[in-house]
Amino acid sequence: MYTVRSEIYSETNYQPESSEDGRIVSKFRFRYPPPGEGVATVDTDGDLDVQRLRRGTIELEHSGATEIKLVGLQVWRGALLLADYLFSRRKELGSKTIMELGAGVGLSSIAAAIHNSGHVYCTDVNLGDILTLIRSNVQRNAQLLQGQVSVIEYDFMAPKSQLSAELLEAIDLSDVIMAADVIYDDALTDAFVAVIEHIFVRAKESGRSKCIYMALEKRYVFTLEDCDSVAPMYEHFLRQTAHKPWIVDHIPLDFPQYFEYERCPQLILMRISQRL
Ligand SMILES: C[S@@+](CC[C@H](N)C(=O)[O-])C[C@H]1O[C@@H](n2cnc3c(N)ncnc32)[C@H](O)[C@@H]1O
Repeated sequence: MYTVRSEIYSETNYQPESSEDGRIVSKFRFRYPPPGEGVATVDTDGDLDVQRLRRGTIELEHSGATEIKLVGLQVWRGALLLADYLFSRRKELGSKTIMELGAGVGLSSIAAAIHNSGHVYCTDVNLGDILTLIRSNVQRNAQLLQGQVSVIEYDFMAPKSQLSAELLEAIDLSDVIMAADVIYDDALTDAFVAVIEHIFVRAKESGRSKCIYMALEKRYVFTLEDCDSVAPMYEHFLRQTAHKPWIVDHIPLDFPQYFEYERCPQLILMRISQRL
């Protein structure tokens, strides 16, 4: 069987331990943003205040290598980039309702609920019993969370008529939609683009506008057809969205890194909103 393995496991030591059901439990370490981050403060004597770093750990059960169909059981780099971004925007996003698509084992949703006092809807297609695993990971980290995390199935390939009432209500209540590393073949990318379209249509109907954040690691391959090194999924996504009435911005990755991982140059964070 052909398997894939997330590169982050070999770059950073997440202190993996075997779990009872043959998976791995890893520790994703982070630092909390200091209260006045970016603002130098002085004490009454005029000395610079030195703020002590407060650290935390998200502990997640996940798989090592998997077949492609079950990549959601692993943790990918985009999830950590999204988690950093959520931490850096905690003041603006802290009271928003957030929905994650293709959440994998739940890292970004859990990171969102650390600073978010509202509701986080964590969704994925239920392959490999992933929804049960996400629920158990949310429970495992409950002591870190301010907000509530609900886990709901969302299959990008499902016809709209088959989406559950619970999911549709959650979409309508959400202000922010986020996804990390969810486009890795043409059919899935097309389905994801259709999902964004559907969410924007519902946003117009419900009068609650949405902003979509999408993180991904561009994977380059050399193709004879292009005679060049290309990132086919990213380029396919840009082609499929070029004529949509959307604004696609690339967010500069100049915000702080709170989580431990390698922020490689192939990482991208996009913000997608509807043209008014
Ligand atoms: C590479 S993993 C990324 C997981 C997680 N976001 C992360 O970055 O660690 C791709 C994700 O897309 C999800 N996915 C694949 N097919 C899907 C579908 N038809 N509908 C919804 N999500 C899907 C997978 O289950 C998986 O969680």
